[in-house]
Amino acid sequence: MERKTVLVSGGAGYIGSHTAVELINAGYDVVIADNLSNSDISGVEGVRAITGVDVPFVNVDCCDKQAFAQLFEQYNFDSVIHFAAYKAVGESVADPMKYYRNNLLSFINVVDLMRQYGRHNIVFSSSATVYGEADTLPVTEATERKAATSAYGNTKQMCEDILRDASGAYEQINGIALRYFNPIGAHPSALIGELPRGVPQNLVPYITQTAAGVRECLSIFGDDYPTEDGSCLRDYIDIVDLAKAHLAAINRMTEGRCNAKYEVFNVGTGRAVSVFELVKTFEKVNNLKLNYKVAPRRQGDVVAVWADTALANKELGWQAERSLEDTLRSAWEWEKRVRNIK
Ligand code: NAD
Ligand code: WQD
Repeated sequence: MERKTVLVSGGAGYIGSHTAVELINAGYDVVIADNLSNSDISGVEGVRAITGVDVPFVNVDCCDKQAFAQLFEQYNFDSVIHFAAYKAVGESVADPMKYYRNNLLSFINVVDLMRQYGRHNIVFSSSATVYGEADTLPVTEATERKAATSAYGNTKQMCEDILRDASGAYEQINGIALRYFNPIGAHPSALIGELPRGVPQNLVPYITQTAAGVRECLSIFGDDYPTEDGSCLRDYIDIVDLAKAHLAAINRMTEGRCNAKYEVFNVGTGRAVSVFELVKTFEKVNNLKLNYKVAPRRQGDVVAVWADTALANKELGWQAERSLEDTLRSAWEWEKRVRNIK
């Protein structure tokens, strides 16, 4: 069978690098494009080390259409997975134009160039953030999207709409938007993982950095929410499981099994986990005590969100498999490797 190539934009980053590994292991050729604005070459080197394949890497800003077009000249891929975006929610509120410029322009260029070069399949990295504070839980793909409360969230909604409209209007273009819940953990090899710059905004990297002594104390944002233990509920999805959902989406598209020109899937576990439960599980499986305290609620946090995964299970033939315990072990193994802790 002819080998197929997939362009992975933002593939040096956290989710992109894990996805590149799964694609390569499944027999795809992969090209990674990234401007390393929130990553470094170690992500690409990790992919190469795990797979034993010398994956091509192109340092390019997807917002630079001319430079980005060179890639389309050079490589004959029919599918792209577009990860390249900024993702810090708070920063996007403080500097919205930075987010609109990067996240929208890079995606518009992807769609335009796919059309221009006669290519077909686009998978877009969307987010559970599009649901906001949902009226009913768990959320299905049909659950109403609430007005975004950050420029970041708004870019996710806008790119979903761009993909819906483009795949509706242009015969050649097919789109799948994957709405990720809370991706956590690292590859079992500990050769790739999450590399946040500065103070981590997300829970698990804050936990692992606290355990490593890089941060003094984890703040648990709120213990007075209307949940069983008072902390927020989320759907934490293992990073390798999440990567495999991308493989399933690419297989579906390249094998012509889509039910519509544009499809949306929730990518989560279907299980709600509280902040306290996550912290306790981390302590237990890694046999350590974490320094933590209860702090005031964080502005903008939703109380609870978790996925109804029935559609992804049925249509993508995919489901989350790795246990929370194994995922939290992998997160700590990765942090230890990064910090040189034995
Ligand atoms: P990441 O920052 O690790 O990866 C994004 C990569 O894109 C980085 O390597 C960065 O250098 C690159 N990039 C950014 N702008 C670029 C540009 N203009 N040109 C080329 N490269 C560019 O983030 P991640 O966690 O791997 O997220 C990947 C995607 O998934 C993003 O679109 C993000 O919004 C989305 N997402 C992430 C989460 C999460 O919690 N991590 C949840 C839902 C959705
Ligand atoms: C999880 C829980 C916090 C840090 C964000 C984005 C979302 C998506 C995923 C991209 C919450 C609590 C956190 C800490 C804490 N990203 N927490 N102490 O907010 O669910 O989602 O990342 O699309 O758009 O908003 O994830 O990891 O920040 O928080 O108590 O130091 O942990 O309050 O309940 P969140 P998170």
